[in-house]
Amino acid sequence: MALSQDEINHIQSVTSIVDVIGSYVSLEKKGKNYFGLCPFHDDHSPSMSVSEDKKIYTCFVCGNTGNVFQFVQNYENVSFLEAVKIVAEKNGIDVNLDLKTNTKYDKFYDAYDLAIKYYQNNIKTADGKKALEYLHKRGLNDDLIKEFDIGYANKSNDTLSKLLINKGYTEKELIDLGLSNKSNTIYDLFRDRIVFPIHDSKGHPVAFSGRIYEKIDAAKYVNTKETMIFKKGEILFNYHRAINEAKKKKKLILVEGQMDAIRVYAEGIENVCATMGTALTNEHVKLLKKLNVEIVLCFDNDEAGEKATLAAGDLLDKEKVNISVLRLSGEKDPDEYILAHGVDAYQEAINNAVSFFDFKLNYLKKNKDLNKVNDVTKYVNSVIDELNKSGDPVLIDLTVNKLSEEYGIDKNVLLNKVIKVEEVKVITSPKKEKEKKEKNIRLIELLLFYMMNNNKFINAFEKELGSINNDKYQRVCDEILAYNVKFGYINLPDFISYSITTDEYEIISDIIENNINNELNDDEYIGLINKIKQINKEEEISKLKEQIKNTTDINEKLRLTDKLTKIKKDV
Ligand code: GTP
Ligand code: MN
Repeated sequence: MALSQDEINHIQSVTSIVDVIGSYVSLEKKGKNYFGLCPFHDDHSPSMSVSEDKKIYTCFVCGNTGNVFQFVQNYENVSFLEAVKIVAEKNGIDVNLDLKTNTKYDKFYDAYDLAIKYYQNNIKTADGKKALEYLHKRGLNDDLIKEFDIGYANKSNDTLSKLLINKGYTEKELIDLGLSNKSNTIYDLFRDRIVFPIHDSKGHPVAFSGRIYEKIDAAKYVNTKETMIFKKGEILFNYHRAINEAKKKKKLILVEGQMDAIRVYAEGIENVCATMGTALTNEHVKLLKKLNVEIVLCFDNDEAGEKATLAAGDLLDKEKVNISVLRLSGEKDPDEYILAHGVDAYQEAINNAVSFFDFKLNYLKKNKDLNKVNDVTKYVNSVIDELNKSGDPVLIDLTVNKLSEEYGIDKNVLLNKVIKVEEVKVITSPKKEKEKKEKNIRLIELLLFYMMNNNKFINAFEKELGSINNDKYQRVCDEILAYNVKFGYINLPDFISYSITTDEYEIISDIIENNINNELNDDEYIGLINKIKQINKEEEISKLKEQIKNTTDINEKLRLTDKLTKIKKDV
């Protein structure tokens, strides 16, 4: 049985968000709202507020925000519907939900489940003996092999494909899923390899990594190709198993190879996942940022690993993720390090991981002879570049002091270099431009916040404005308008439970976080509408100017210029 939006709204309306959150976190009343320690980051002073009126919680530090369902969802790490069920039960409402919701990909995950079972069975047969021995030799015992569902794809050409076809899969589906391929006839893709299942962030099996186990002239690993359920740039090996422990320890260790992740995990450090040898992508960064924990980069101990650390660190740093770096010495990777020195030594090394900035300083020192004036100059200048990139005054101060002591350079000389670049940055107009853009975005967000709270604001919007000159926010605006048309009313908590399944949720939660303290006020809203009219016009003008610049057709240029003049007159 599926729950209707009305039922979900009903559950929400009879629920006290303060009671529910108060059953997880101790809350204290201050003024109209309640405050408590935010469970979604390492909070030391109560920074999460819960409003019974607005039926919303918000953390002013980490930005986690939402209604009662989203709190339970985040806290208990469950799906939205599971959260609804939990909340309903707390209120004595029986929702009798069958939570095995079917997604359009279930059939594909099932194919992977069947393949996993097939491969697991193989490893117990005579054919799989050598593969099993190899795993044992590498110190993976049977429990661990079971826990990671490691299996063996035997030498057979097409047994898995046939088995799945018998279960109702088409050849095309199997090929699309990366399990099979076809020349004249269909054949299994993995043959005579140890296979490690790879899961997506929710724990669905979506791919395999197959390793050779005997010395043969073939690629060490073969991984499933990119498919509709295996988007390589969005998947980290072992992420789904690591989430809980990472949140508990406020730390996640990121390694390169799945064997490294398995070793570290097997030794009891369960907050670990692996990139599987590919470069970190922006989607990976999103997954990592979401955890809101420190990321310890612990890639292989070679030059490629060092480069990968630099690249991954820069990407994470840009997204303000807290990163530290562990460079192992001696052994090639965490797997070998632990086998050689034991897990305690590895744990200690993790505890002593250095900041990403310190890692960069070490990197910049490489291949330089710091007894030579020339090399010191190069080094110091590159450090200053890094400082300017960071713009962090505390870091600048600390580092300048250190450089000055270490190399006997006058502190003012160094500071002058840093500050000069800073000044140039301040007076360039792109920055002002950016600030203005950001200010406009805040206004648009506030407008949408009003609209999500009460449909009288939607009516005024439709009468006075009708649209927003910004694609990203226009999409959210469309959601709001559609909700109002469908239900004939709007309020914040109902609207966000409705929009939970859409891509816009992230934008919406930002909007709420930035505006939750704003009291709704009719006069302010009228002012806001006028300001946004102005912004829309400015946007249109700058778009037109751009078009005029880019067009080569003289008639089109005249037409656009004419249009521009008219708009400008209206301003
Ligand atoms: P072991 O040799 O089993 O200990 O693996 P490792 O983790 O030490 O592997 P390595 O550091 O060589 O590579 C890191 C990751 O890159 C692996 O886990 C694989 O996911 C991937 N990888 C390594 N070799 C290959 C290859 O030949 N082909 C592909 N597609 N991926 C590879
Ligand atoms: Mn290895």
